[in-house]
Amino acid sequence: MHPQPISWAAGHSIRLLDQTLLPLDVHYLVLEQVDQVAEAILHLRVRGAPLIGIAAAMGATLAARGSPTDPLAAVLRACDLLEATRPTAVNLPWAMTRMRRRARHAARLGESLHAALLAEASAIWDEDREMCRRIGEAGLPLIPEGGTVLTHCNAGVLATGGIGTALAPIYLAHAAGRKVKVVADETRPLLQGARLTAWELCQSGVPTTVIADSMAASRLRMGDISCVIVGADRIAANGDVANKIGTYGLALAARAHGVPFYVAAPRSTFDFRTADGPGIPIEERRPEEIRRVGGATIVAEGSGVWNPAFDVTPADLITGYITDLGLLGRGELERLREPAVPAPA
Ligand code: MRU
Repeated sequence: MHPQPISWAAGHSIRLLDQTLLPLDVHYLVLEQVDQVAEAILHLRVRGAPLIGIAAAMGATLAARGSPTDPLAAVLRACDLLEATRPTAVNLPWAMTRMRRRARHAARLGESLHAALLAEASAIWDEDREMCRRIGEAGLPLIPEGGTVLTHCNAGVLATGGIGTALAPIYLAHAAGRKVKVVADETRPLLQGARLTAWELCQSGVPTTVIADSMAASRLRMGDISCVIVGADRIAANGDVANKIGTYGLALAARAHGVPFYVAAPRSTFDFRTADGPGIPIEERRPEEIRRVGGATIVAEGSGVWNPAFDVTPADLITGYITDLGLLGRGELERLREPAVPAPA
């Protein structure tokens, strides 16, 4: 049984696994207000590109509960607030555009806004679960018997509405009885690899080894890594990929050692309106995330800190894209051209 990072709770509120407390504490929050959901996304209590799209969609439904004076205006305000929480993952504006469009449509027809939004948020979640399954099937042939996959950050159950993107082929290989091992970068500064990827893989019995990010190149040189698979927060029209900071360096090291480097992502992560990587907005987070570890200050006083949450890996370093339409080369991405951010209604 995989952990469940999000679900509906009684009265159509949201039950959310607080990922900031993992792996020490498995604690669920019940969120009843839109600004609680915005806070949870901002502080990475819920994170991962597909899952923040789903969480925001579920969050937008909260604005239509009860009897607000102007329900449509309340929902549109909620969508704006939720969309502004994190700039890089395109799944967030993609989901909010769907919710706005569904709200306007329901209002025009005089339907219950709350019921319409619940249906749309649930559809976004269901579609993501299905896309994860397809990504798993598309990536399965890349995992050899006895193989070892290196991954970065967390692109698993804790980042999606299903079995993950980068981790989906690994889960399917493991379930099929194939012996597969994972090496997980710890992923400084917020340690999504050490805290989250290792936790969810160990829950499922997948043999996992955590390494510090600085060890990845040496590990790739050892020759025991079958392939690298990572997730993505936004993929531009030319195939450049924004993902967790450190992905670019990993791709360079994989290229230097002749190890295939795959990016796994659902259709909702492709942004054909952004031509290339330099056009992708990169979130910069608080310096405290670098300055402090476990409550202790580790950076010398007086020193500055730079803390971009993501980087861009150029398309020419990427061996292939594991998508819900199958394993695609850079020249085949056009097949996914369903706008990641649909045109506003
Ligand atoms: O800052 P985070 O933890 O939200 O970053 C997550 C990642 O970078 C993931 O690799 C990406 O969102 C893909 S999740 C399927």
